[in-house]
Amino acid sequence: MIFYYTSTGNSQWVAEKLEHLLEESIYSINTIAKDGYSSTDFELTEGERIIFVFPVHSWNVPAVVRKFISKLSVEGTPSAVYAVCTCGDDCGKTNENLSTMLDLIGLKLNACFSVQMPNNYVLMPGFNIDDPSVQHKKMIEAVTTVEQIADKILSGNCDAKGFYTSGTFPWTKSVLLYQYFKRVQCGRTPFKATDACVGCGLCAQVCPENNIRMQSNGRPQWRNHCTQCAACFHHCPKNAVQYGSVTKGKGQYLNSHVKFDD
Ligand SMILES: Cc1cc2nc3c(=O)[nH]c(=O)nc-3n(C[C@H](O)[C@H](O)[C@H](O)COP(=O)(O)O)c2cc1C
Ligand code: SF4
Ligand code: SF4
Repeated sequence: MIFYYTSTGNSQWVAEKLEHLLEESIYSINTIAKDGYSSTDFELTEGERIIFVFPVHSWNVPAVVRKFISKLSVEGTPSAVYAVCTCGDDCGKTNENLSTMLDLIGLKLNACFSVQMPNNYVLMPGFNIDDPSVQHKKMIEAVTTVEQIADKILSGNCDAKGFYTSGTFPWTKSVLLYQYFKRVQCGRTPFKATDACVGCGLCAQVCPENNIRMQSNGRPQWRNHCTQCAACFHHCPKNAVQYGSVTKGKGQYLNSHVKFDD
């Protein structure tokens, strides 16, 4: 049983590859979140594993995945519990924090792996998507990494050494910088739609937090519980979503290998 969360398709791509390689059933946390977390009860079949796949957000577990895990109820005992996080560079202590969260609902995390993929964070000065050549290189390497992770899961090998990138200063990143991210960056934001907006409503549809409301004038309005996932920015077909002046001139990114349910 695979649960995945994605903003721009990288984690969906990993989850769908694992679905194919491991012959697991697959569920979208995005869909569950959009529906107000009303379907969080699952039943395991004999010997089934649980695999969480999600992007690292500020060296930590994304808010939507946290909420999902806090509401998750699983009937039956999994044969093992794994996580595969996707990141642009490194993951800090995401593995340890996820393990603590799963402990609280009675699930023991056997191993947490990571896969480097094209970066999608653009909502702070100095952060941008990768150049096309870097995106291409990361995607080529990700194919092999995901296949190796699938082999490990298939053989029950829980050693994530060499398959999880914590990076430098993991405590500073996952504790100090994460607190800044959560308190200062998330919540109320300077998002707005420019005159290029055609009122298609896609930004509101892809927001997992239902933080965007389409107004009677056909324009989106951002509310005050944003989690910075950047889905609205990257999915806009007119590149009309801007975050104050921070996103001026920055590129959009969507993983071209996945089909979105938009
Ligand atoms: C809010 C936010 C925070 C991020 N923080 C990190 C980070 O701490 N470390 C990192 O390497 N990548 C970070 N990234 C990049 C994503 O983890 C990476 O691009 C991921 O593969 C995106 O997956 P998705 O397409 O499934 O959403 C961040 C992206 C977002 C939107
Ligand atoms: S996705 Fe873009 S074009 Fe569509 S409503 Fe939102 S801002 Fe406007
Ligand atoms: S408003 Fe945009 S960045 Fe914020 S949670 Fe919604 S889709 Fe993500």
